Amino acid sequence: MGILDRHKVIEKNASLLLVGSLLVVAVGGIVEIVPLFYLENTIEEVEGMRPYSPLELAGRDIYVREGCYVCHSQMIRPIRDEVERYGHYSLAAESMYDHPFQWGSKWTGPDLARVGGRYSDAWHIDHLSDPQSVVPESIMPPYSFLMNRFIEPDHIEDLVRTHAFVGIPYTDDMIENAQADFIAQADQYSDWDALVERYPGAQVRNFDSSDGISEMDALVAYLQMLGTLVDFSTFTPDASR
Ligand code: HEC
Repeated sequence: MGILDRHKVIEKNASLLLVGSLLVVAVGGIVEIVPLFYLENTIEEVEGMRPYSPLELAGRDIYVREGCYVCHSQMIRPIRDEVERYGHYSLAAESMYDHPFQWGSKWTGPDLARVGGRYSDAWHIDHLSDPQSVVPESIMPPYSFLMNRFIEPDHIEDLVRTHAFVGIPYTDDMIENAQADFIAQADQYSDWDALVERYPGAQVRNFDSSDGISEMDALVAYLQMLGTLVDFSTFTPDASR
């Protein structure tokens, strides 16, 4: 009997075909999944990446709450026109502390993965308050109310604790000081040495130039940090991974 004739047996018996298919799929699945258990990390560690500071984290919450991701992605693909427009393509490590991640394929507005430092705080505030005042043809909606909504810092420690719970490496020190760090980052006259030690590269200032910590402060602190943590003048990808 030729091998094809033997195959007829499977083709003519539905139960046998089903069992055979399950076996094949199971082997394929195991081959793909098992190595993941033995790899220590599927994300290349990159110098500079750190968990978000409490103020940045609060800003990120506002970004998610307002659905900015509906029009903006944070994922620069390694395609020439994107790299020329936005800068170095995004690394997996740059999203490793994001829950949920902010990738995406919907581009009503530009990618924001590296928007940090591209504009002044004042530009962001004008733009978020009334986008058409700085970009007349913009279809982005205004978010001026963020200026008048103030964040009471009493939930900040729980916010950081929650992110630690889902695996972000916040230390006890970071959790204990979450509320103090939140307040210190929005005030350049505060004692922020310890904050910057905990969150290297954190930008400290009164982002919206008015009293109190508004949602605008937090959102602009978040935007100004985006894409600035990894130093691409010294970064070289590890091709062996
Ligand atoms: C309805 C779609 C839409 C939503 C929702 C939206 N944007 Fe935009 N955004 C745009 C468009 C279109 C542009 C480009 C024109 C402009 O600069 O206003 C833009 C531009 C921007 C820019 C300037 C980017 C650059 O590189 O020039 C920033 C920053 C920005 N948006 C932040 C936000 C934030 C933060 C939110 C949420 C609070 C948000 N956007 C919500 C559509 C949107």
